[in-house]
Amino acid sequence: MSHALEGVRILDFTHVQSGPTCTQLLAWLGADVIKVERPGEGDPTRGQLRDIPDVDSLYFTMLNHNKRSITVDAKKPRGKELLERLIRHCDVLVENFAPGALDRMGLTWERIQSLNPRMIVASVKGFGPGPYQDCKVYENVAQCAGGSASTTGFDDGPPLVTGSQIGDSGTGLHLALGIVAALYQRQSSGRGQKVLAAMQDGVLNLCRVKLRDQQRLARTGVMEEYPQYPDGKFGDAVPRAGNASGGGQPGAILKCKGWETDPNAYIYFITQAAVWEPICRIIGKPEWITHPDYATLPARLPRLKQIFDTIEQWTQTKTKFEAMEILNQYDIPCGPILSMKELAEEPSLRATGTVVEVDHPTRGKYLSVGNPIKLSDSPSEVTRSPLLGEHTDQILAELGYSEDQIAALRADRAI
Ligand code: COA
Repeated sequence: MSHALEGVRILDFTHVQSGPTCTQLLAWLGADVIKVERPGEGDPTRGQLRDIPDVDSLYFTMLNHNKRSITVDAKKPRGKELLERLIRHCDVLVENFAPGALDRMGLTWERIQSLNPRMIVASVKGFGPGPYQDCKVYENVAQCAGGSASTTGFDDGPPLVTGSQIGDSGTGLHLALGIVAALYQRQSSGRGQKVLAAMQDGVLNLCRVKLRDQQRLARTGVMEEYPQYPDGKFGDAVPRAGNASGGGQPGAILKCKGWETDPNAYIYFITQAAVWEPICRIIGKPEWITHPDYATLPARLPRLKQIFDTIEQWTQTKTKFEAMEILNQYDIPCGPILSMKELAEEPSLRATGTVVEVDHPTRGKYLSVGNPIKLSDSPSEVTRSPLLGEHTDQILAELGYSEDQIAALRADRAI
């Protein structure tokens, strides 16, 4: 079967997480992704958080599937010349260097356009134009600067970062969408364009409901679905809401049987208004169905703590899976807190290819997350990440390099 992005060539000048997430997605959609790495060391994540000596780390392998690797020293004249040939050969250049690094290599937008006017140049940066545009940024900085940390955690604790890599992988995902849109526009315009995804912008986009709440708070001074209501105080900025649901259907994380010893024996429970009646029956409070203090959502809002405490007395008598089974019979929205161990072992995720086992020549077998985006006519098969420079000769041959030219590149240590 063909693939959605077949024939698209990506010059992948990315490193660490945000850029590699983007190009891995494009590779899974069928693009030919040529990863350019510095000779000798390559992407710094190859050597970070290693669990096996001298073997590419899981950090690297899990972000660089389905790519080819070529080593090029972009600061050597022959390396620069090779890069320029790659620019003529490819459709998209993706990079996430610190601000200005690409220009310092001589690869300005103008230079790239003169080499290949159809080239799309896609960048992840920490910040867009403004006071922080020159800053280097990693994941947690973006979470803090994009509104996530100030709105995550409990009211009486400090700001918290989340386990989801919304700054890196989230921005990589935004960038991938921008690239696909630019490729589509190029079909009619015939021109490339610049695509920028700033990590602060990406995180803020994912926190858009909190900007919604900021404006509600400014207008009304109170948010009735937040745990601060009715007894706590609201300031002038959206507070941390603990595990309260972000939407209009109140929710909470509740203890299940075994919580005393199992840190993940919890369930997320949503008291959706449409299923209030079965909730009351299941938890043994049928009188709440018609009682004026509980019968309607507005009446329940000032009593959410007491309501969830009562529901928790019921959930503590069931394991999270038993509770799921009962609640799902009545279409009550709920979800178990699943640990990474449980997710790794979940057969249905293996069956869909969301969790895959990959074989690697020096590492052996390991688990990874496959493509979460499923296209019926463009299935993704996860293949292992490349070794450093594994495809250098192959790519040079495709570019028409002669053996003498390759020898000269080697003598110069440009590859
Ligand atoms: N050949 C020659 N030089 C190379 C090269 C190659 N193949 N690949 C990289 N380099 C050089 C760069 O040109 C740069 O040199 P310069 O500083 O002289 O211009 C140098 O390596 C380091 O690149 P830089 O991007 O500054 O890496 P860093 O390790 O110092 O910073 C980040 C890492 C992630 C903080 C930074 O790249 C950044 O802020 N990126 C944008 C935001 C981002 O994506 N952050 C999330 C990462 S998950």
